[in-house]
Amino acid sequence: MFFCIPCYYVAMHNKFSKSRLPGNPHVARIPVPVRELHAGHRAAILEHFLQLNDDDRRLRFGTHTPDEVIERYVEGLDFNQDTIFGIFDAQLNIVGLAHLAYLPVFKSKARAAEFGVSVLAEGRAQGFGTALLGRAAVHSRNTRIETLFVHCLANNKAMMHLAQKAGMSVEYAYGDADAYLKLPPANSSTIVEEAANEQWADFDYAVKANLKRSHAAWWWFLGRPALAS
Ligand SMILES: CC(C)(COP(=O)(O)OP(=O)(O)OC[C@H]1O[C@@H](n2cnc3c(N)ncnc32)[C@H](O)[C@@H]1OP(=O)(O)O)[C@@H](O)C(=O)NCCC(=O)NCCS
Repeated sequence: MFFCIPCYYVAMHNKFSKSRLPGNPHVARIPVPVRELHAGHRAAILEHFLQLNDDDRRLRFGTHTPDEVIERYVEGLDFNQDTIFGIFDAQLNIVGLAHLAYLPVFKSKARAAEFGVSVLAEGRAQGFGTALLGRAAVHSRNTRIETLFVHCLANNKAMMHLAQKAGMSVEYAYGDADAYLKLPPANSSTIVEEAANEQWADFDYAVKANLKRSHAAWWWFLGRPALAS
């Protein structure tokens, strides 16, 4: 029997991405590809945030967040200081995004980072939020972070569920919730795990980019206008 690798990949990816996966994305034996983003992704990051509705923006940023505020936030992202992770859909839109912000280091305090996450409505309940949190936790360990924080509204049930599932302790005060996770030091398996996910995410991205290009070529060949990329 003849197997076309890209077709097989697409079929498997669609099968798993459309199914209602349990919280652990590894249950499907295909980890969610989480890619570390760079400044060249700024426009795609902005596009991601602008697609969040008012409620999601309030949950993500803790307050009413108009477009201009999001634009300034994205312009101000420092990719040398912080780490941004993304999950891409077949059109290379960012469907899930996480910002791992390193907090200032004080002499007597443990090194800490704050995690913020958003997944577009159509991407939810497929393990993307869990995968982003898992990847951020491993990256934090590998960069000597000892405590991972998540600050969110106390009524954010989905985020609270994610945090508790990841073993975070949660403290509630005045409608806000602070979840924190004490991280053990890195070891060889956390280094290998992150490298493997990075390679898998690079492969996933390359396949999607090729498919997108070949789609555009087919439209051109068939005489229809290609979609703007
Ligand atoms: C929070 C958020 C990132 C979760 O993304 P996601 O991709 O849907 O997350 P997952 O699929 O990995 O897991 C969601 C889990 O929450 C659970 N969940 C979803 N809504 C829930 C609710 N209202 N109450 C309780 N649990 C809920 C799901 O059942 C799932 O649990 P499971 O893994 O045990 O099955 C997403 O809802 C989002 O972007 N919200 C808006 C922004 C936001 O709130 N950011 C967090 C503050 S920084």
